[in-house]
Amino acid sequence: MDNERETQAQPMPRIGDKAPEFKAVTTQGEINFPGDYSGGWVILFSHPADFTPVCTSEFMTFAALEGKFAAANCKLVGLSVDGLYSHIAWLRTIKEKIEYRGMKDVEVKFPLIEDITMAVARKYGMIQPGESSTKAVRAVFFVDPKGTIRAIIYYPLSLGRNFDELYRALIAMQAADAFAIATPADWQPGDDVIVPPAGSCGVAKDRMDGKEEMKCYDWFFCTKKLPAEKVFSTILKK
Ligand code: BEZ
Repeated sequence: MDNERETQAQPMPRIGDKAPEFKAVTTQGEINFPGDYSGGWVILFSHPADFTPVCTSEFMTFAALEGKFAAANCKLVGLSVDGLYSHIAWLRTIKEKIEYRGMKDVEVKFPLIEDITMAVARKYGMIQPGESSTKAVRAVFFVDPKGTIRAIIYYPLSLGRNFDELYRALIAMQAADAFAIATPADWQPGDDVIVPPAGSCGVAKDRMDGKEEMKCYDWFFCTKKLPAEKVFSTILKK
């Protein structure tokens, strides 16, 4: 079976699926995914190749933001189809030599999976032959504390990810879980949130309590206030 057919033979994981399980060797030792991360969120992301510029800028940014994600109960796991020694050499080069946009001496402390056989990349639909059959695309899987895939974002090789958006998406999903709300376009913590349409528990409870002040644009589109402090004090302490 050639690479392309083998890739097509595996179904791509979807939102709502349990994250496919795997064991892997990483720069931080062996991991069992997603079991090792249960009880917290984890972002599994792939990059095309070590020692490439877009990936380097992304890794430095993710490493710089690792503490911010950790405070939101979210760990990071990277993957490429390179080998462990390549990963180690690349991360050492980043730490010792690269200064970029005010970031320097950057130590990547989260695990980076070696996936020379592409077994994990294929399991997660990260090999997309129309883009490259030898490199993973830039995939981002958000996995929740129960091991369920909650969001997936794919980017092509040439496009570096927006890390503000990854953090925003994480906080928005956590807020949706904690407050039974949805978040409108371009939502940022502190902005009004959407009271789910009738039939969902959130709106029924709010309307029955009569405690929450809602603004309705029409019968199907109502918002309410959710202060950023309430969002962060709830999700950051979990
Ligand atoms: C990069 O990370 O710079 C890159 C990797 C593979 C293809 C194109 C760009």
